[in-house]
Amino acid sequence: MAEVRQAARFHPPVTVALTGASGAQYGLRLIEALVAAGHEVWVMISKAAHLVIATETDVALPARPERLAEALIRRSGARPGQVRCFGREDWMAPVASGSGAPSSMVICPCSTGTLSAVATGASNNLIERAADVALKERRRLILVPRETPFSAIHLEHMLALTRMGAVILPAAPGFYHQPRSVEDLVDFIVARILNQLGIEHRLMPRWGE
Ligand SMILES: Cc1cc2nc3c(=O)[nH]c(=O)nc-3n(C[C@H](O)[C@H](O)[C@H](O)COP(=O)(O)O)c2cc1C
Repeated sequence: MAEVRQAARFHPPVTVALTGASGAQYGLRLIEALVAAGHEVWVMISKAAHLVIATETDVALPARPERLAEALIRRSGARPGQVRCFGREDWMAPVASGSGAPSSMVICPCSTGTLSAVATGASNNLIERAADVALKERRRLILVPRETPFSAIHLEHMLALTRMGAVILPAAPGFYHQPRSVEDLVDFIVARILNQLGIEHRLMPRWGE
């Protein structure tokens, strides 16, 4: 009952998975933006993503889900309970089942390894399983791949996922808003993700505004 009351304090949860592609800042900023928009955020961070975060940012994040949630709550200014984290093999987590999974999941950034696993239904860890659930339940699934150049394998997986209803939103920021900082480039992509989720934001003006 306490959990029901707590959940009602926030807008519906969005699942955010960070995997080991370059561009950890996109995922971390997305969590901040969802928190700022009042959403509950359910987070999974792969082992490789922890390595990328340590390489690309000065953000120190613990691996254990409970401690990770505390750290993300602190850095994103979330309220208690607004961010929840799940471990690699936490098969009892709500995201592992169609009856508990949120209506939207974003994999940001998405490694080509996870892209491949999702396209083929591998479900070898909780991130892959949660994406598999999103596909089978016809929920919103957004993948933000980052690799260059793309091989035929990557492109075929992206095409297959698009045909299954997922959105492929490459980490390829535009420059027509005249970015002055890395943060501006990061916000370009995060704004696009929020647009896809139908979540209001002020990260950047929409085209024509
Ligand atoms: C610093 C660093 C940067 C990486 N950048 C990329 C990348 O941009 N794209 C990618 O697909 N893989 C990248 N990788 C490789 C993936 O992390 C690796 O394939 C890993 O197995 C992915 O696992 P995951 O999908 O479970 O996170 C990078 C690895 C490291 C350590």
